[in-house]
Amino acid sequence: MGRTVVTVSRRLPGAVEQRLGELFDVRLNARDEALGPDGLSAALATSDAIVSTLGDPLDAATFSLRPVRARIIAHFGAGYDNVDVAAARARGVTVTNTPGVLTDDTADLTMLLILGAARRAGEGERELRGGAWTGWRPTHLLGTRVSGKTLGLVGFGRIGRAVARRARDGFGMRVRAWSRSLTEAAASDAGVERSDSLERLLADSDIVSIHVPSSRETRQLLDAGRIALMPRHAILVNTSRGDVVDEAALTSALRHGSICAAGLDVFEREPHVSRELLSLDRVYALPHLGSATVESRTAMGMRVVANLDAFFRGQEVSDRVA
Ligand code: DGY
Repeated sequence: MGRTVVTVSRRLPGAVEQRLGELFDVRLNARDEALGPDGLSAALATSDAIVSTLGDPLDAATFSLRPVRARIIAHFGAGYDNVDVAAARARGVTVTNTPGVLTDDTADLTMLLILGAARRAGEGERELRGGAWTGWRPTHLLGTRVSGKTLGLVGFGRIGRAVARRARDGFGMRVRAWSRSLTEAAASDAGVERSDSLERLLADSDIVSIHVPSSRETRQLLDAGRIALMPRHAILVNTSRGDVVDEAALTSALRHGSICAAGLDVFEREPHVSRELLSLDRVYALPHLGSATVESRTAMGMRVVANLDAFFRGQEVSDRVA
């Protein structure tokens, strides 16, 4: 019997590609270019497994292009909203993800965005690099102190909790959280205040940080109406998925000063980001770097390897999502 064929959709850290090569007949993507629907459908038709990444459109249309040979999609990432799990399930394809191993790094980056947006780090760096800095002066680029301020967390999973710990213990912030499933007891165990509605959380927070996955229920969760509930001095931070926020409404709120600033690592139509949003001084933006450390990306890859190995040995796969 031939070896199991595994197609990897993008370059992965070297140690991960090497381990995959030891275990499987692996087809790497040396050019690191997106495979697109046709390439993914060809991979589904000719491989036993696909290692997918953010932005690979594994939707119903891609599944329908060719007969599917693959038995598992081992997704490299915690969020797997690019995979249509119902379409995968309908073809008997298992889907796994890599939760847990990127929590701390994503929480750290959330703090970076909170601080960067509050302390006007983007504006300062642009000014410095642009040669426009004229020297220290008492009223230059005054930002907002984060200590003592209220951080409102939308979603309270692993990453939300890790942000709460950092904000409370490291920066002396008061932390409130809202999620559909968060109970009073769970909030108090985690040392945060529970908000009884998203609307209340938005109205009561100085800084709001989003930590929900993208799904039918959360798409455009922060629409124009909800953004309008935030106070004028508020800062919105997003390290989850761009489509949880109505980006046009956010742009308009920032432009008209109905909120103060935003720290954004994710965007509605990545890698396209509206020029208008990026032209706003108080937008501190990064290109989806939440889990971008050698440690997280290697751990994510090794989790993919473990999921594939367990699956093809016929063992229980702990990260199965479909
Ligand atoms: C994740 O794991 O969801 C990160 O956003 C990268 O995909």
